[in-house]
Amino acid sequence: MLKKLLGLFGKRPVIVPDAAKLVEGEARTIEIGDLGSDGRQLLLCRVDGKVHALDTECPHGKGGRLVRGPLHEGRFAVCPLHNYKFDATTGRPKEVVCSDAKTYTCVERNGQIEVHL
Ligand code: FES
Repeated sequence: MLKKLLGLFGKRPVIVPDAAKLVEGEARTIEIGDLGSDGRQLLLCRVDGKVHALDTECPHGKGGRLVRGPLHEGRFAVCPLHNYKFDATTGRPKEVVCSDAKTYTCVERNGQIEVHL
């Protein structure tokens, strides 16, 4: 428990440069750490001018991943395996019964995106 709490306070955000390259209604992937061990792949999305981050691991649980590119209707990240869509701002699924996609807090500052894991 203590280790978990200390971990919360000791983590620094991951900095992603060139925030301006992420245009409205678009999603791009970034990789953090070693994906073979404890690394993660995230999807950065810009909706209504704000940046949001989702884990690319699809909560449908069949091995699909949310993909980069234009967001569906400018707002929804897509997993092409079964075509499920997830609101990039909340992680909630659109019109299907499924768990939410995991989201992370993002702050855009000085042309960079800070992702808090
Ligand atoms: S695994 Fe993503 S929609 Fe089925």
